[in-house]
Amino acid sequence: MENITSYIDTHKDRFIEELFELLRIPSISADPAYKNDMLKTADAIKASLEKAGCDTVEICETPGNPIVYGEKIIDPALPTVLVYGHYDVQPADPIELWTSGPFEPVIKKTDIHPEGAIFARGACDDKGQMYMHVKALEYMTVNDKLPCNIKFMIEGEEEVGSESLDWFVKRNQEKLQNDVILISDTGMISNQQPSITTGLRGLSYVEVEITGPNRDLHSGLYGGAVANPINVLSKMIGSLQDEDNRITIDGFYDNVEEISLEERAEMAKAPFNLEEYKKSIDLSDIHGEKGYTTNERNSIRPTLDVNGIWGGYTGEGAKTVIASKAYAKISMRLVPNQTPEEITEKFTKHFLKIAPKSVTVKITPHHGGHGYVTPTDNVGYKAAHKAYAKTFGVTPIPQKSGGSIPIVALFEQELKSKTILMGFGLDSDAIHSPNEHFGVFNYLKGIETIPYFFEYFTEMSK
Ligand code: BES
Ligand code: MN
Ligand code: MN
Repeated sequence: MENITSYIDTHKDRFIEELFELLRIPSISADPAYKNDMLKTADAIKASLEKAGCDTVEICETPGNPIVYGEKIIDPALPTVLVYGHYDVQPADPIELWTSGPFEPVIKKTDIHPEGAIFARGACDDKGQMYMHVKALEYMTVNDKLPCNIKFMIEGEEEVGSESLDWFVKRNQEKLQNDVILISDTGMISNQQPSITTGLRGLSYVEVEITGPNRDLHSGLYGGAVANPINVLSKMIGSLQDEDNRITIDGFYDNVEEISLEERAEMAKAPFNLEEYKKSIDLSDIHGEKGYTTNERNSIRPTLDVNGIWGGYTGEGAKTVIASKAYAKISMRLVPNQTPEEITEKFTKHFLKIAPKSVTVKITPHHGGHGYVTPTDNVGYKAAHKAYAKTFGVTPIPQKSGGSIPIVALFEQELKSKTILMGFGLDSDAIHSPNEHFGVFNYLKGIETIPYFFEYFTEMSK
């Protein structure tokens, strides 16, 4: 029987090549043109789970993209770990900014990943992190080391709101019964300092449309005498934050959980270098809500950001025109006790209130999601903690993340179980951006750490 490090050593080239195969399929959930690639990816994951040792694997049809479900039940009396991941990826654009094809995975060295990183869309979010679990299962099966039952649920719509998974979970509570949910779809502080994600922010997302005149107008003949929807929209958006960068929407902070000074002091202990942070994204200065640090601003405080804004003439040269319409997509990240329903309603009321009579406003809510807080006093967290400490030789730090995985709150509601977020990505891995990558070190470290989680979780559950 081989131990995990020597098993990884022997098989690492194959582990990388198998992940490359998955990364070559452009499983972009946002674009219906890739429907066939979604099915191909689901099939490939099914085959990999069967090979890794699952007893049964099914492709579960849903109203949208299929969910791959697999399980290996060794003894119903033992605990069950449900692994969740997603096989869909974000669109690759702007494609011209990639230094190699988004669906042509290659290993390149970077300053942060001197031993190389896998460059491809989905390398870190989430194919690479999901596949670590498949390879961990392979190791445990081959070496007779699986200490408990395991279930896999891999979906194809995470990046577009997980609607079908919501549908699936509500219909399969029995099948999905588990003692803990394990997800690798987040990050850690650095390769030298592991951390366990203990919080995810919620999300409220709206699209707004401002209409002025019923058609585009000559900006000389009408300019100055009618409201320009783009000017109006810019002004309205500009007013949503004050000089202290606080959000001005009526009642926006009403339910926000204020973090205790102790917890803030605890957070401030996490290693963070502001100069390096600025340098890594080429900024000469930072920005954010007055009275909070950068790490607080991007994790425990709510935000409002315009994700896209358009309207009018954007082609070559100049066209003198007042557009009839202007649009924006706006997201708000939410913290504990704020709900997407509450915030979407508050946004809508406020935005209608501040609109001048010279325009009409249409607001369309998109998918949102609740945030999540992982308690640290349970067996799952303790097992994860011990597993990271074992493989990194460094005590992991709990850390709240600014990102969102809305389905986690639904798991808690429908399946009544806690989720442990064992992420191995880094913030600098460029998820959702051009040149997304995942360190080879991180990929292999994940495969190494996961079996220890299973071992400790089973032991501690006794
Ligand atoms: N895996 C990410 C979320 C994430 C990344 C959380 C890193 C913490 C650290 C996930 O795939 C994602 O992108 N979520 C979306 C929300 C979704 C509704 C589109 C997000 O956070 O924008
Ligand atoms: Mn993800
Ligand atoms: Mn994502």
